[in-house]
Amino acid sequence: MSNEGKTESKKAKVISFINMKGGVGKTTLCREIGYTLNKEFKKSILFIDIDPQANLTQSLFEKYNLLPQDLFNDLKSDEQKEIKICNQSINVLLSGGQVTPEKDDLIAHLEENNPKLDLIPGDLKTVFLERNNTGSIAENSLDKFIAKKRVAEDYDFIFIDCPPTYSFYTTAAFNASDYYIVPVGIDPYSVLGIDLLEQVVFSIKDNNWRAFETKHLENMGIIFNPLGYTSNATISRQFSNQKDSIISSEKLKKYQFYYFRNIFTYNSKYKEELGYFNIDSNDNKHNNNINSIVLEFLDRLSFLNSQLEDTNDSKDR
Ligand SMILES: Nc1ncnc2c1ncn2[C@@H]1O[C@H](COP(=O)(O)OP(=O)(O)O)[C@@H](O)[C@H]1O
Ligand SMILES: [Mg+2]
Repeated sequence: MSNEGKTESKKAKVISFINMKGGVGKTTLCREIGYTLNKEFKKSILFIDIDPQANLTQSLFEKYNLLPQDLFNDLKSDEQKEIKICNQSINVLLSGGQVTPEKDDLIAHLEENNPKLDLIPGDLKTVFLERNNTGSIAENSLDKFIAKKRVAEDYDFIFIDCPPTYSFYTTAAFNASDYYIVPVGIDPYSVLGIDLLEQVVFSIKDNNWRAFETKHLENMGIIFNPLGYTSNATISRQFSNQKDSIISSEKLKKYQFYYFRNIFTYNSKYKEELGYFNIDSNDNKHNNNINSIVLEFLDRLSFLNSQLEDTNDSKDR
């Protein structure tokens, strides 16, 4: 059967980086995978920062010398020379206006040249939206913006960096996503966190069951991040044991998750430099690590996409 006339006109898959726990590497993996896909694999990327903490935005602003107008105004005039003003923000969308904004109101272009590297910046002010958010309007705003403005046609990948809370941000991200990736640190509560996340996904699908009758949202896999675990042999063994016990835990077995073979390597540079990106350095060990993760990510995605096409084909028949 031909692909013509299918609803699948969009190009980019939308992928959320999420976990109900903070500090597990959601932001770091989101930006490293996205940036490596752009620089090494020549893919066009749109990052969306839906976390009110806006860490992804801070690190990309640092790297590309950007600031929003109000912070720019606070600089001394000699400091201003280095900086470009960025007025785009996800606030425009989440504050719940009736009309879907234009791409230029939201999307900042980080790189002038192809392939595109773009960002919908987060904004610390979104913290204040939480109390008076407009419910389902805000929860559907991102999905609606991407669909109505045909955003996915402009990119190979759209990556959403999520906060560690079950809030309207999470729902907005999930409503817009095709897949999600779960970065996981190693501690005794990791199992509970992953289980909780799956329950959240279940509840979002259930609350929006009409939309999810036709919409697909699937866990792409779990990526382990050793965080506090350095390369010391004893500690790596401990890490490996704990990782195995998470994988074989009774609570998680039923989900049949995909666990990335490549784990994220510990890199002390992240703590030192906000705008640090692995592959801009000459550090072979870490370059190879992120490249392997990206290759595995691409493999996994093409497997899931082909499975999805098969399912759609059999529905069409
Ligand atoms: N593999 C790693 N090696 C070293 N530091 C890391 C690693 N992953 C994350 N970090 C650091 O740990 C902290 C939390 O990571 P982050 O990506 O912000 O987590 P989250 O988005 O889940 O809250 C950050 O300071 C980050 O730089
Ligand atoms: Mg984060």
